Amino acid sequence: MTTSAASFSQDELKALVGQAALAYVVPGEIVGVGTGSTVNKFIDALATIKDQIPGAVSSSVASTERLKALGINVLDANEVASLSVYIDGADEIDGRGYMVKGGGAALTREKIVAALAERFVCIADASKRVEVLGDFPLPVEVIPMAAAQIANHFKAMGGRAEIRMKDGAPLVTDNGQHILDVRGLKIAEPLAFESEVNQWPGVVTVGVFAHQKASVCLLGTPEGVQTLNY
Ligand code: 5RP
Repeated sequence: MTTSAASFSQDELKALVGQAALAYVVPGEIVGVGTGSTVNKFIDALATIKDQIPGAVSSSVASTERLKALGINVLDANEVASLSVYIDGADEIDGRGYMVKGGGAALTREKIVAALAERFVCIADASKRVEVLGDFPLPVEVIPMAAAQIANHFKAMGGRAEIRMKDGAPLVTDNGQHILDVRGLKIAEPLAFESEVNQWPGVVTVGVFAHQKASVCLLGTPEGVQTLNY
């Protein structure tokens, strides 16, 4: 199903899907909130209905700061037994709702909050829709002392892993760890791939979201918001 018709910039598409995601927020219930530029649009939209929800569980320090600045209550994930919905962006999403995430380095907390939720609503512009995952460099959060060992595992799979840098030093995540970005992979079997990589010693989280895949994707296209159900 596609709603509305016009030509939009990428920023407008993000705003459009951020606004459309409000329809999935359940009044009276806590909402799970992801991280990234698309989610920032959702947070801005959420502020307009903040009186209808008790608060949010956030997946990053950056989202927590934005939520609080807009007057939205933020709860610790440990205070919440379950969530009806988690709303987040993606770096890639395939035709089955499997995703690559972690371009914003928040993948571990994103997966933790997603695992609390009954439904994952992915909000993304059409550039994120792919046939096979792997063109976007796969983010993997790792414990620093295991980085070289994990990079070697990826090399054996045909991938090239590099530590993500920021200001001339390895980027440090909200969890105090590092990120490997892996190029050259084609992830045809996301469920098996996620399970395998996650059991390598030193992997905190791999950025394949197959076990926590999207239930719905609100895809911003030049024709408007397309709703994809999985
Ligand atoms: C952050 C993420 C984001 O959801 C992903 O990188 C998409 O971000 P954006 O909406 O800015 O394109 O996984 O870790």
